[in-house]
Amino acid sequence: MATVNLKNSQMVKPAETTWTGTVALSEWDQIGTITHVPTIYFYKKSLKLDSGSVLDTLKDSLSRALVHFYPLAGRLRWIGNGRLELDCNAKGVRLIEAESQTKLESLGDFTPSPEYELLVPSVDYTIPIEEIPLLLVQVTRFQCGGISLSFTISHAIVDGQSALHFISEWARIARGEPLSVAPFLDRRVLRAGEPVVGSLEESDDHNHEEFNHPPLLLGQSNNLEERKKKTIVAMLKLSKFQVEKLKNMANESKNAGYTRPFSRYETVTGHVWRCACKARGHMPQQPTALGVCVDSRSRIKPALPLGYFGNATLDVIAISCTGELVSKPLGYAVSKIREAIMAVTSEFIKSGIEFLKKQPSLTKFQDIHALGGTEGPFYGNPNLGVVSWLTLPIYGLDFGWGKEVYMGPGTHDFDGDSLILQNPNEDGGLILALCLQVGHMEAFKKYFYEDIM
Ligand code: COA
Repeated sequence: MATVNLKNSQMVKPAETTWTGTVALSEWDQIGTITHVPTIYFYKKSLKLDSGSVLDTLKDSLSRALVHFYPLAGRLRWIGNGRLELDCNAKGVRLIEAESQTKLESLGDFTPSPEYELLVPSVDYTIPIEEIPLLLVQVTRFQCGGISLSFTISHAIVDGQSALHFISEWARIARGEPLSVAPFLDRRVLRAGEPVVGSLEESDDHNHEEFNHPPLLLGQSNNLEERKKKTIVAMLKLSKFQVEKLKNMANESKNAGYTRPFSRYETVTGHVWRCACKARGHMPQQPTALGVCVDSRSRIKPALPLGYFGNATLDVIAISCTGELVSKPLGYAVSKIREAIMAVTSEFIKSGIEFLKKQPSLTKFQDIHALGGTEGPFYGNPNLGVVSWLTLPIYGLDFGWGKEVYMGPGTHDFDGDSLILQNPNEDGGLILALCLQVGHMEAFKKYFYEDIM
């Protein structure tokens, strides 16, 4: 593996004095992924990249961006019962400068490789949470003059939409442009820190299956063995033609009653679900859950204010069994996904928040406890999670030296963890970034392409 030398690491603080104090987090901030999520951008050598000081530009614009997005410069704090709050204390974010001994070309088509680990800041979760920055940035210069820029951001503070809002405003500031949309920082619009409505015993019509532990492999009483298995990541491309073909397959067998045809996300996710069941070799009666991350911003009433900065997404699940999924036409799996998404009404969202408020502890809903142990959600075999990045503004990130040549997820190494992205190099094409157990990946790829034919 190539060598990457660390040259400098510093804390960047807001350029001006910002509000200090404690902020209550919403229920969604505190569940699911509360560790950091990395993304990486690569830039080829260019005159602009050569001329200015990349580090000074990034540092200066970052400190100015943090004036608007000051929660990111704070720290988390445990407050008991698996609950967290945010201390806006302007401690700052970490900016790391590194140098690689190789050229960008050595990374080939930039498919995630073990080398990524040296380019993406790592976070040590064994130290007290009050000491962990919420944002870590690493800029690595390659021998060819190109750079990689990697961000890893705490999911307890922002979801993908808000993370990209911050990054794109930071890039605007670096280019000398004014803020486009100011962040809306008041998390109370999602009832953060507010007491439960009604009594603790009271329940409503929604049973919130999404908060139960997903199914286990038949014959197993826990998922310990599955958690231990080695995983691998693949970036699987689908052409516009293949996507259209899948959409036609799904929509021709569409259940009556839907006014809108199945979307690309629903269709491809249904296809991925079926292929994973086949590749994993489940028994027909094996139950399997498919996790869908749904943005509540426009689904909740009233809609969240523009620029809401925090987590506004919730995970819901579609459940079926392998036998039905693989024996019925694609439209069956896809309609299960549509049903799960359609169930996310404003009432459902609000009831989910109350459900979480009533929980004595949030520990069992948090991934941080799954890192070395067994508690926390697990969407590995026989389950799967497919997150849409189709509407996130991930491409075209320009800090003043032009747009990236490649953008992708930094690392994602949990069995069953997957993302759907637009292919920036092919209009209408999509990319599935998928992590599966090593033993299942080759079979998955085979079904993934053969079943479209
Ligand atoms: N009439 C016809 N078609 C319509 C329509 C209408 N009124 N409104 C939307 N559509 C179609 C679009 O053409 C598009 O279909 P296409 O992809 O085949 O072109 C699709 O519906 C887009 O709608 P969207 O609401 O985005 O649905 P989706 O099925 O693509 O995705 C979710 C479903 C749940 C993933 C999505 O709504 C969502 O919440 N995304 C956010 C995920 C997120 O936050 N990710 C980051 C996590 S950190």
